[in-house]
This record gives sequence, structure tokens and C-alpha cells, in this order.
Amino acid sequence: MRERSRVEETIYAMQRAGAGSLQVISDFDMTLTRFAHNGKRVATTHNILDNRLLINEDCTKKMRELLNIYYPIEIDASRSVEEKLPLMVEWWTKVHELLIQQKIRKDLLAQAVRESSTMLRDGYKVFFDGLAEHQVPLLIFSAGVGDVLEEVIRQNHVFHPNVHIISNYMDFDHTGVLRAFKGQLIHTFNKREGALSHAAGLRELQGRPNVLLLGDSLGDLTMADGVSEPQNVLTIGFLNDQVEERKETYINSFDIVLVKDETMDVPNAIFRYITSSRDNK
Ligand code: TMP
Ligand code: MG
Repeated sequence: MRERSRVEETIYAMQRAGAGSLQVISDFDMTLTRFAHNGKRVATTHNILDNRLLINEDCTKKMRELLNIYYPIEIDASRSVEEKLPLMVEWWTKVHELLIQQKIRKDLLAQAVRESSTMLRDGYKVFFDGLAEHQVPLLIFSAGVGDVLEEVIRQNHVFHPNVHIISNYMDFDHTGVLRAFKGQLIHTFNKREGALSHAAGLRELQGRPNVLLLGDSLGDLTMADGVSEPQNVLTIGFLNDQVEERKETYINSFDIVLVKDETMDVPNAIFRYITSSRDNK
């Protein structure tokens, strides 16, 4: 924490206002999902599609090559966001074009998710169930693939009615074959645009000026830019990779930084406090 007192005051103010004033905005890949498990990287929503059911060997090879080129750029502490922006558009556009060529079938997505290495962070059930129980809206804002993301949370039994998703959704033809991606492309560094054009209009998020924001990328900090008249905003950043290179920037950017923490323990503890009885404080 850069400023412990600010963190404490924000949490106290959120607790005084109660769950009725709160919304949670979270990134998905490597924020709600784990970064690694037993020393191996956990699949992102894009990487879940790397399954022979859906794509051929050549496509796997090309997607991996792109990942090896662009992921280091995405997390490079020495490059500015302005510099990264066009390169991220390039990465996402190339990957989506490759996926479209593969004629992916909608009816096989669930099986690909079941067979993948994807894993939500430890404590995810307490997190999702707690928000649902207190009717706190959870906006999942992801540059991943929305259809796959939905299937991951469905298979983990946490796709509750308070969950709203903004992501890249697949557009299937009438036979259930992928033909395009819907709407404007979302990548790691243009979430502000999506926040203003989509999140700002979500009725369920209106009248909730307190925001708990979770992300693993500096681009995730703009996910709350669509909130009108925010009062208390607490940001939590998961620093998963390139820790030493990025620590200082993360500490200067997020209110709380969690270093190589594969759990939801801190967000869960904060939420538990916010929803604890006001009379006992
Ligand atoms: P997020 O917004 O839910 O975190 O999703 C974006 C992440 O997806 C980003 O950190 C990079 C990752 N990604 C892949 O793993 N493979 C890909 O092919 C692409 C385009 C992105
Ligand atoms: Mg992420």
C-alpha cells in the first residue's frame, strides 16, 4: 500500500455507506482467474480456445507466436501506454482473424472449457456468492472472449444474476459457426472507451457511487471511468509477473498491490468488513 490511511478511510466510508452503495468492477483473466498453478500458467479465455476440438495445429502455432511477441510488450514496464496501444490492437485483431478462419463451433466451447487448465482464484466462491447474497452488482470487464468467460463462471456455479459482463463476444452464423466478433474490440488498454460507452449505461450500476476495482493490468484502472459521480473508489492490483520491474509503478497506481497472491483473500476480507454490521463499529 502506498497510503495505508487512505485505504483505511476508504474502507470505513464504504462500510458506513453499506452494500447498497457499492459496485464491484473486475477484470477477468489473471484477476478473477489464477495466473499460475503448480508452476504452470493457467489458460486465459483466449488460450482456452487452444484445443484441437476448435482450432488446428497451425492456428495454435500462430497464436503462440503472437503471444510470445505481444505479451512481453503488454507487460513491458519501459514502454508507455501510447506506445503499446496500436500493438495491442494488432495482437487482438490478428488473433481474432485466425480464430474466425477456424470456423469455431459454439456447441464445442463448453467442452473446451472443461478440458482446459483454467482456474478461478482460491476463495472465488466466497467472493461471487457474497456479492450475490448482498445484491452487489459485479461488472466483469474483460478483453478476453465473453462466450468463454461466461462458460468458465457457469461451470464453476457462480454465474449469479448480479453478474454483468462486458467483453469480446463471438458472433455465430445460423449454423453455430464463428463468423466475426461483435461490437468494438476490447483490448487491455482501451477499457476506458468501453466503460464510457457500455458500463455507464448499465441500470443495475446506477446510484452506487462506491467502487471496489480489481485488475492485473494498469489498463484495468480505467474500468471505473464510466461511473457517474464516484465517491469512494478502492483499487486492488494483482501483480503476477515481472514483479520487480513493475512493483513501483503498481504501488503508485493501485491503492493495494497483491504480489504473487493467487487468492481472493484480500478482496474477500474487505468485502466482509464493508458488509459487517454498522452497529458494531
Ligand atoms: P482480461 O482483460 O480479461 O485480462 O483479458 C486480456 C488478457 O488476455 C491479456 O492480459 C492478454 C491475454 N491474451 C491471451 O492470453 N491470448 C491472446 O491471444 C490475447 C489476444 C490476449
Ligand atoms: Mg487481466
